[in-house]
Amino acid sequence: MTRHLVTSALPYANGPIHFGHVAGAYLPADVYVRYLRMKGEDVLYVCGTDEHGVAITLKAEKEGLGYAEYVDGWRREIKALFDKFEISFDIWSGTSRCPQHAELSRTFFTTLLNNGLIFDKTEDQWYSEALERYLPDRYLEGGCPECGHEKARGDECPRCGAWIDAKDLVSPTCTIDGSKPVLKATKHWFLDLPKIQENGLQKWYDGQNEGRPHTAWKPNVHGYVQAMLKDMQARPITRDLPWGVPLPEELAGGEGKVLYVWFDAPIGYISATMEWAEKQGKPDAWKTWWQSPDTQLSHFIGKDNIAFHMVVFPSMLLGQGDSENESPYVLPWSVPANEFYNLQGRKFSTSEGWHLNNEDFFSKYSADAARFHLILSGPESADSEFTWEGFQSTNNALLADKLGNFSSRVLKFAEKRFEGKTPQSTGELDTHEDLMRATEAFAEVGQRLAQQEFKASAKALMKACDALNEFFDSMAPWKKIKSEDPAEHSLCAATIERCIAYLELISRRLAPFCPSAAKELRQTLGAVAQPEQNKWGNDEPPKTLPAYLALGEVGVLFPKIDNDAVQDEINHLNSAVQG
Ligand code: MF3
Ligand code: ZN
Repeated sequence: MTRHLVTSALPYANGPIHFGHVAGAYLPADVYVRYLRMKGEDVLYVCGTDEHGVAITLKAEKEGLGYAEYVDGWRREIKALFDKFEISFDIWSGTSRCPQHAELSRTFFTTLLNNGLIFDKTEDQWYSEALERYLPDRYLEGGCPECGHEKARGDECPRCGAWIDAKDLVSPTCTIDGSKPVLKATKHWFLDLPKIQENGLQKWYDGQNEGRPHTAWKPNVHGYVQAMLKDMQARPITRDLPWGVPLPEELAGGEGKVLYVWFDAPIGYISATMEWAEKQGKPDAWKTWWQSPDTQLSHFIGKDNIAFHMVVFPSMLLGQGDSENESPYVLPWSVPANEFYNLQGRKFSTSEGWHLNNEDFFSKYSADAARFHLILSGPESADSEFTWEGFQSTNNALLADKLGNFSSRVLKFAEKRFEGKTPQSTGELDTHEDLMRATEAFAEVGQRLAQQEFKASAKALMKACDALNEFFDSMAPWKKIKSEDPAEHSLCAATIERCIAYLELISRRLAPFCPSAAKELRQTLGAVAQPEQNKWGNDEPPKTLPAYLALGEVGVLFPKIDNDAVQDEINHLNSAVQG
């Protein structure tokens, strides 16, 4: 059996996450994990908050909050949205709270250093004498060396877009207190990526992309990484900040410095797994996940994280071996990086009011409808967007009309004509052409999920529903039931029996996408949907169900969203940006 280790990018605990993040890095992973679990595979899903870095220290200081306190607030808010979407991790950790994190991060650093893959360099850096601290890029403002704009940031110019080396800023000031910093020499450590590339990164990367039909890097990932591999640069991995993972104590010149957030964050995937193992009472269990070669590691991320997951983190992992031994860690098997997801023609922006209010949204609409729509409209191979019209159409025209309606037509018919029980069937329709088409589409649902093609999988599920609706319509059981001919009656019973059997299959294929609706559907199927059958199973339902199994009560799986509601939402969105 393959072991599947699934991660979603650790969200920064410095702001809200929105549907775009969910559609990009979290929901597809959750769907994948639910699918694998139903197949009975070994799977672990790891996430947590990314709690270090200058973006966090800056904002916390601006708000006058302690770093830990600041991070805790956002962490809660972020988790609340995952809960609403019914996205559930095996471990929800966080880089500043995970008991194993700091030590493991330092071990990574020390091993790389001992392996000659980290070097140090002493360079001038801006220093505030008033604050007695070095100032990272984002704590500086000054003249742009390119265009002269007076309010350039330490890392880039907002006017001309130039990337700036902070040392080149013209008469900079400190953004904390407005004081004038001075240049002072300080030591920093660099990850020698060109050397690691030569030692094995390139070989690993090329090898992974060869000979595997469906786990080869996605085209968007491949293009990006190839460009990066052509011009590899060493990267600084330490910072002067009062918050983060302190460097190893014995390191000369490392006092007061911390690891760069992008160095410690991905290690968070491993330390979170250690935390999980500890909580299971099996402290060594993390090794099975991270250190046995038959683990398939999938990193679900947004496109802005490609460099770190495809080049930097794999390099850090490769560098954990020594000259005699290969890395003890598994490297990514798949990095399904998604593009960006916008909102109704513009980028999501909470500060400008161009966003969805999560509380409000989930008080009116179901997680299931949102999940299905985000998968169907997700940015899997190109940027895409959430529109209210699109959401309504997924809910009404697909979920309600194709799936919900099929279920209620069949079950109501059984309620009225067969006393709410499975009809006795002669099995004469078991190989009906429409049903074979449905079976084919159901098979595709799983094949696509295995290949991490979520959109195509959701579409295949709708295709299966189309075939089943066509079956129902062409058999016209409502006519047959009224016929005098016993053969027609028998066909009617067989039709309803097949539809019920396929509904049970729908409930299982729907489950990774819409877990609550799938559960509800199983309830309405009563004795037909035994809990122990709730596995992925075959792509066709059992031949001829036992007769007279009691069905449950019929409900509405996907309530419709009316046009006025959609118009209200759009007006609300527009007024928020104008007001
Ligand atoms: N915090 C980063 C972001 O939101 C993602 C970090 S992923 C990890 O873009 F691998 F570093 F953990
Ligand atoms: Zn400029």
